[in-house]
Amino acid sequence: ETKPRIPVLWLHGLECTCCSESFIRSAHPLAKDVILSMISLDYDDTIMAAAGEQAEAIIEETIQKYDGNYILAVEGNAPLNEDGMYCIIGGKPFVEQLRHAADHAKAIVSWGSCASWGCVQAARPNPTRATPTHMVPGIADKPIIKVPGCPPISEVMTAVITYILTFEKLPDLDRQGRPKMFYSQRIHDKCYRRPHFDAGQFVESFDDEGARKGYCLYKVGCKGPTTYNACSTVRWNGGLSFPIQAGHPCIGCSEDGFWDKGSFYDRL
Ligand code: SF4
Ligand code: SF4
Ligand code: F3S
Repeated sequence: ETKPRIPVLWLHGLECTCCSESFIRSAHPLAKDVILSMISLDYDDTIMAAAGEQAEAIIEETIQKYDGNYILAVEGNAPLNEDGMYCIIGGKPFVEQLRHAADHAKAIVSWGSCASWGCVQAARPNPTRATPTHMVPGIADKPIIKVPGCPPISEVMTAVITYILTFEKLPDLDRQGRPKMFYSQRIHDKCYRRPHFDAGQFVESFDDEGARKGYCLYKVGCKGPTTYNACSTVRWNGGLSFPIQAGHPCIGCSEDGFWDKGSFYDRL
């Protein structure tokens, strides 16, 4: 109650906006509490009421008022081909807006696999040269927290913000730049179907008897053994379920390059 709300600029490059869709569904804490009581979301072009020049002016106001003290949240990535013309915000290439906002930020949060790794827009042959935040040439040398996933789990997103506000420091990151508290274990390590894997009980094809019995999905392409994310512990929709619980193999959506690493339904 006594702490000032930390200013956040939330930019959007090439993306599908489902990272925002995930964020607004956080149950613990509620997204409304994050936005109304914890952060000052000064700019977010997909959910803000302002539009046009009025909206763009807010970026400059925030930069001048809170130089070096705001968090830059990035959803989506920057296409570099054709001088950035594949993503134009307020009449300018997104990459320029990104570099400018990064220059004055305290730290950067790369939401989702688009901002962290490139994701489907960067799939071969990557015609727009979609480039994740940390690989944008000329991006300021600021701490970058990657929160990958397509999208990331809502409670993981809000927990990262809550951690920064509560402890007034950035969370510990692994060598790929992801918060250790959510990305240090594989889906496979805590998967409730793991006893079936260990017992050699596998789904051989979708809708076979093994599928109906809830056997392990490894043979129909599950990437859980090589995917670092919190889905099998935190789960989705307020802890209700996750892809494997719904009967679908993990496609490794939080891993770098998952979109180009062969068929989602092939074995590893
Ligand atoms: Fe959408 Fe996935 Fe990119 Fe998030 S990471 S904006 S969910 S494509
Ligand atoms: Fe591992 Fe996937 Fe099988 Fe779960 S379903 S035990 S994550 S291979
Ligand atoms: Fe993505 Fe696999 Fe979780 S597909 S949502 S990392 S179970």
